[in-house]
Amino acid sequence: MDRPYIICHMVTSLDGKVTGDFLKKSEYSKFIEDYYRIHREYGADGFLCGRVTMEGSFPQPSVPSNDYDGPPIAREDYIAEKAAFYAVAIDPKGKLWWSNRAISDTDEGYDGAHIIEVLTESVPDAFLAHLRNKGVSYLFAGKTELNLPLAVQKLKKLFGIQTLLLEGGGIVNGSFLQDGLIDEISLVVVPTAEPSEKAIPLFQTGKYQSGDKAPASFRLKDTKKLDHGGLWLIYLKN
Ligand SMILES: NC(=O)c1ccc[n+]([C@@H]2O[C@H](COP(=O)([O-])OP(=O)(O)OC[C@H]3O[C@@H](n4cnc5c(N)ncnc54)[C@H](OP(=O)(O)O)[C@@H]3O)[C@@H](O)[C@H]2O)c1
Repeated sequence: MDRPYIICHMVTSLDGKVTGDFLKKSEYSKFIEDYYRIHREYGADGFLCGRVTMEGSFPQPSVPSNDYDGPPIAREDYIAEKAAFYAVAIDPKGKLWWSNRAISDTDEGYDGAHIIEVLTESVPDAFLAHLRNKGVSYLFAGKTELNLPLAVQKLKKLFGIQTLLLEGGGIVNGSFLQDGLIDEISLVVVPTAEPSEKAIPLFQTGKYQSGDKAPASFRLKDTKKLDHGGLWLIYLKN
């Protein structure tokens, strides 16, 4: 395979929502711990999230000045370092002005992950100069629209990523699903239904691709009961 093996790993309600008040309730915090534990146990080479999730999970200081008066920066992939574990951000317009080359987090499954930005060529030079200055790696996948198959090929070729955890949110998951880029689904299912109309589903399609592709089909690999009425479901792509 010319790309990593991709596992979509998420916490969902019974009705397949990945956001909502249920995630903040203390009675369900055990399932978030299960999620982090399983993340670590997969032993993947990195995790990948959409721009919105990255922004929410790892808040950065306010955006530095967009001024840049240096020479034009070529749209060439930039490998700041080769690392044991990567945090891959889908950030087509260059909105994540990281202040460090790696993730800082209380969970050891995320802390220290070297950041790779997945960009389109439309990002400003000031943003690329900032990433270089901070030691953040980046790769280009598309001029103005993101080409996800190309992005994941480059993750393997340039950084040696063999196994990648796709960890939301719904929009990025939906894009990967529609591009046929999900090999396995790992769901920590919380025993509650999320009634909010605003809650985001596991796969949110239609924003970047038309929603008329054939349904993706998966087969059950394993199920495990979790304490407190939860379930871990693992599906493989057919
Ligand atoms: N329950 C769980 O396990 C779990 C896990 C992760 C996240 N979440 C939750 O999910 C929520 C965020 O989900 P979300 O669906 O709104 O956002 P998201 O998937 O995190 O990020 C979406 C953004 O990523 C970029 N993007 C993703 N796919 C793209 C594509 N194919 N082409 C171009 N750009 C693409 C775009 O950035 P731009 O807007 O910059 O163009 C897009 O707006 C958060 O509340 C988070 O807490 C839940």
